[in-house]
Amino acid sequence: MRFDGKTIIVTGGALGIGRAASFLLAERGGQVSIVDWDDAAAKTACDEIEKNGGRAIYTQADVSDAVAIGKAVARTVETFGGIDSLIVSAGIQRYGTALTTSDEQWDEVLGVNLKGAWNAARAVLPHLQQAGKGSIVCVSSVQALASQQNVLAYTVSKHALLGLTRSIAMDFAKENIRANAVCPGTVDTPMLQWAASLDPNPQSVYDACNQMHPLGRIAVPREIAEVALFLAHESSSFVTGSVWTADGGLLTQIGGVPQTN
Ligand SMILES: NC(=O)c1ccc[n+]([C@@H]2O[C@H](COP(=O)([O-])OP(=O)(O)OC[C@H]3O[C@@H](n4cnc5c(N)ncnc54)[C@H](O)[C@@H]3O)[C@@H](O)[C@H]2O)c1
Repeated sequence: MRFDGKTIIVTGGALGIGRAASFLLAERGGQVSIVDWDDAAAKTACDEIEKNGGRAIYTQADVSDAVAIGKAVARTVETFGGIDSLIVSAGIQRYGTALTTSDEQWDEVLGVNLKGAWNAARAVLPHLQQAGKGSIVCVSSVQALASQQNVLAYTVSKHALLGLTRSIAMDFAKENIRANAVCPGTVDTPMLQWAASLDPNPQSVYDACNQMHPLGRIAVPREIAEVALFLAHESSSFVTGSVWTADGGLLTQIGGVPQTN
């Protein structure tokens, strides 16, 4: 899967899954435009990509700000001449139930995880229309299909992201623009490190996460990025509106069944 001559915007491309996707895209010939609010991490990622012989630019932007995203997309087009794909990976995790989630937290999580994806999509879509083709990939979560406790806003945002993805898939299919979602299980990224750091025994969080996946381990970011790249690439030309779990079997297993060996 080569991306020679292709331009791909990656939101949240400075760290974690987005960073892995940016590196893989550049390794495979793509021109990468990272949009992230972490300026220092985005610069480091771009510097490393360029040191490895790839092409990448970054723009600091908060994805929940439609104007900022619009500017980042315009800059990408000015630099690379067009856009072929968008990978939406920017996301945040916060904890709370229906009673303990504050209005601010709800707005923050929905603003980044859901509106941020919409902002990026609506800024990119006119360029895909102009090109007569394109692909949008949203990194959702297994929490789009199930839930755990105390993650109300996150779960709501990830469920809704599937609705956004499917709506885009339906509205733009006739224009040869595809939209798909990836739903990862647990992935070893700064987001997980932060979540584990909230526990007095961070290693116990890693141990529990490794154990709950039938493959016996959590993912490394590259394993999720590979799925996102496939959906961004024309190899997946007949795939649209779909939801791809990349979860080490997590959602396949029936919970509570005793081990037989
Ligand atoms: N790590 C996991 O276990 C896991 C599991 C399932 C789904 N996901 C999802 O995958 C995506 C990537 O997660 P990750 O683990 O790589 O997270 P991460 O925190 O490691 O990286 C997220 C990146 O997004 C950027 N970002 C966050 N909010 C932003 C904003 N408002 N504007 C611009 N950039 C912003 C961060 O600066 C960072 O570079 C997220 O949508 C997350 O919900 C992660």
